[in-house]
Amino acid sequence: ASATRDRLRIAIQKSGRLAEPARALLSACGLSWRESRDKLFCYGESLPVDLLLVRDDDIPGLIADGVCDFGVVGRNELDEQAGERARIGLPPAYRELRALGFGACRLMLAIPESWDWQGPAQLQGLRIATSYPAILANWLQAQGVDASVVELSGSVEIAPKLGTADLICDLVSSGATLAANQLKPVETLLQSEAVLAGPVREFDDSRAGLAAMLLRRMDGVLKVKD
Ligand code: PRP
Ligand code: ZN
Ligand code: MG
Repeated sequence: ASATRDRLRIAIQKSGRLAEPARALLSACGLSWRESRDKLFCYGESLPVDLLLVRDDDIPGLIADGVCDFGVVGRNELDEQAGERARIGLPPAYRELRALGFGACRLMLAIPESWDWQGPAQLQGLRIATSYPAILANWLQAQGVDASVVELSGSVEIAPKLGTADLICDLVSSGATLAANQLKPVETLLQSEAVLAGPVREFDDSRAGLAAMLLRRMDGVLKVKD
């Protein structure tokens, strides 16, 4: 669906955990930008590669619609939205091109600290709060468990205390948020980290050469970091 363009556009998180490391990675690849006053669009100076600063949740859709060519986004967000597309019969519209080695976290099931965990069968009939309904529904199906998924866009960890769910499925990094809400992690659904996402199809205009160069430079930067 993407129109012909001669500049590449990369979407990154405007603010949040992936924002700074994403910019640092792209800078290390030799990119530099002239910042606009609103700072949502940064015009590429060293190369014809522009930056779009957006909410991470919007990145998969921007690539799917051809508004952006690449995005730096958590695998969790990419997989969730791919799962949502699959559920309504849409084909994949983007793919993971590189794992970037920062923003590591896990999508986990967490239960009240006072519970004993005996395995997925225990979830039968319970209510699980999450911002990742597609990933969770697929996992529950694979486990052969019938539970209800309560979709929340944030503050998922408070749901058991409020009584709107029995347990949760959310991202865990340090584990501090779980501990603060008297929850304990019991199952990992997804190992996540920041990834470079891009289109499924190859470019057929001057973006092809630019994209190949960017990936080559990124591979060099990622190799040095290991
Ligand atoms: C994420 C995630 C958890 C928390 C986990 O939320 O949804 O709530 O971080 O991190 P921790 O294990 O180090 O405590 P974030 O603060 O990014 O905000 P959001 O939920 O609004 O996306
Ligand atoms: Zn988000
Ligand atoms: Mg949170």
